[in-house]
Amino acid sequence: DEGSSTSSSGGSGGGKKLTLGFSQVGSESGWRSANTDSVKASAKEAGYNLKFSDAQQKQENQISAIRSFIAQKVDVIAFSPVVVTGWDAVLKEAKAKKIPVVLTDRSVETSDESLYVTLVGSDFTDEGRRAAKILEKVLEKAGHKGAVKIAQLEGTTGAAPAIERAKGFKEVMDADHKDDWKIVVSQTGDFTRAGGKQVMAAFLQSNPDIDVLFAHNDDMGIGAIQAIEAAGKKPGKDILIVTVDGVKDGFVAMSEGKINAIVECNPLLGPQLMEVVQKVKDGETVERWIKTEESDFMQDQAKEVLPSRKY
Ligand code: AHR
Repeated sequence: DEGSSTSSSGGSGGGKKLTLGFSQVGSESGWRSANTDSVKASAKEAGYNLKFSDAQQKQENQISAIRSFIAQKVDVIAFSPVVVTGWDAVLKEAKAKKIPVVLTDRSVETSDESLYVTLVGSDFTDEGRRAAKILEKVLEKAGHKGAVKIAQLEGTTGAAPAIERAKGFKEVMDADHKDDWKIVVSQTGDFTRAGGKQVMAAFLQSNPDIDVLFAHNDDMGIGAIQAIEAAGKKPGKDILIVTVDGVKDGFVAMSEGKINAIVECNPLLGPQLMEVVQKVKDGETVERWIKTEESDFMQDQAKEVLPSRKY
């Protein structure tokens, strides 16, 4: 162990404070708010000078924020990319000025691997696989036999968690449930409650006989619950629901019997991020992907686990 580098003196030798430019996606979900709080608190704890910018879910805002961090000559840039593509130009500008870039939460697709140092975040493909595996248990518990008609609420179009959760889920479905499971409708709800509610209402119009909802995050699931209730159906019974994240409101809905299972995606990435940022600034080698550890929860665990949820 190289030892903790999140000292309150702000890192090596207690000299000049490390300046970190951080571009956040937005504030679309409970997960995102928890992530923002974690980043801000950990930067403070580490004694860094944090320049925080909220992109309001727009890539062009993130690109401008990164350009402004470059102009301000920050020590390290960290960002959680709204979408996976379209970053090469701005990342090349950072590289030309020798400012290292750390990705957090979400990945990018780039032609040149050297344009970012590392990713601190979850394995979203695995979250999709885990969602399909836990759905098997949910169906068994509910005594559901035969064909399964699935509605999928996707995250933001083009975002890593939306692409990869759909991919992981489909992978298990194609391998183990080719004959019985079918995704009958799938559309983006942009990771928001309002989006989840609106799209689910439309799903119920076109496909009133949906058995299962797989929502890429809790917030869309919670919005969908409102639409399901408005349509006179019981969420968690008439329509079985699996979501991703595990924020407090998700656990509340699960303890009320309205969500059947949650695949955890941990937003508390701040402490690990600050540690990596210091190492990168000090020129130490870091792993290419620092993965987050996560669990899965069934409805019968909700009441017991709820009080200990940290976000
Ligand atoms: O990138 C992580 C995802 O972004 C979370 O699952 C979702 O809630 C958030 O908006």
